[in-house]
Amino acid sequence: MTYETIETRVEAGQVGIVTLNRPKALNALNDTLMDELGEALKAFDADEAIGCIIVTGSERAFAAGADIAAMAKYTFADVYKGDFITRNWETIRSIRKPVIAAVSGFALGGGCELAMMCDVIIAADNAKFGQPEIKLGVIPGAGGTQRLPRAVGKAKAMDLVLTGRMMDAAEAERAGLVSRVVPYEKLADEALAAAIVISGFSRVAVMAAKEAVNRAYEGGLADGVMFERRLFHSLYATEDQKEGMDAFLNKRAAVFKHR
Ligand code: CAA
Repeated sequence: MTYETIETRVEAGQVGIVTLNRPKALNALNDTLMDELGEALKAFDADEAIGCIIVTGSERAFAAGADIAAMAKYTFADVYKGDFITRNWETIRSIRKPVIAAVSGFALGGGCELAMMCDVIIAADNAKFGQPEIKLGVIPGAGGTQRLPRAVGKAKAMDLVLTGRMMDAAEAERAGLVSRVVPYEKLADEALAAAIVISGFSRVAVMAAKEAVNRAYEGGLADGVMFERRLFHSLYATEDQKEGMDAFLNKRAAVFKHR
C-alpha cells in the first residue's frame, strides 16, 4: 500500500515499521497523516505474521505536534462539531499488539501525545519532549494532560504543560517517560531488537500483558481525556488561540489578551 505521509515496511518478517514522513513540517500531524497512521497500524494489527509494531520519525523530528497551519483557523463550533482530535487519533489506542515509539528529535504537543499512546518509548539521545500548547493559547488536546502526569508525576507534568519547555532524553528517562535512551545511530536497531524479542513470545500472552498494564495505567482516563478535549475545544472560542497560532505561522511573538 502506498501512503502520502507515512512509509511502512516489515523487518525480520515479524515487525511492522511505520515511519512518519512529512519532513518539511517536522512530521506535523494532520488529518491525512493520522488517517494513514491508523490504517497502517490496523493493517499490521490484523497481519498474522506481525508480532510487534514500531512507530518512528526522522532524525530531526518524531513529530512536532498537531498541524498548526491546519487548525489555526478553526472555531469552537468547528472543533466541537467535528470532535476534533477524536476521529483519527483514538485508533492508536485500539491496536492490540504492542507498539513501540522510537523517538528521535522533537516529540512535541501531539507528537509527545502520540508517543505516549504507544506502549513503550525508546528515545535517541537527541530526543526532546514537551507539551508547548500553552504558547499557542491552548492546552494539550490528545491526552497530554492525562497521560503525562501518569508517566512522570504531577510536578513535572505541570512544569512542562504550564511552561511549555522541552525536556531532553536524559530528563525524560529519569522521569520515567521513556524506557531506554540510546545514541541516535543505534535507535533503529535497539527498537527493532526489542520488537523481535516481543514478537518471539506468545501473541496471546503479549496482548494480555499489554491489556493488563494498560488497565493499571488508564483507570479513569476516559473521563479525563473527554474533560480535556472539551476544554481544548472551548479554547477555540478565545482570541488568544487565534493570536497564538497566527503568531506562530507568521514567525512573531504572540501577544495574548487574557493575561
Ligand atoms: N504544525 C505545522 N507546522 C509546523 C509545526 C506544527 N506543529 N512544527 C513545525 N512546523 C513547520 C514550521 O512552520 C516550519 O515550516 P516552514 O519551513 O514552512 O516555515 C518547519 O516545520 C520547520 O520548523 P521551524 O522552522 O520552526 O524549525 P525550528 O528548528 O526553528 O523549530 C520547533 C522546531 C521547536 C519544533 C518549532 O517548529 C515549533 O515550536 N513547532 C511547534 C511545536 C508546537 O507548538 N507543537 C504543538 C502543536 S498544537 C498540538 O499538538 C495540539 C494537541 O495537543 C493535539
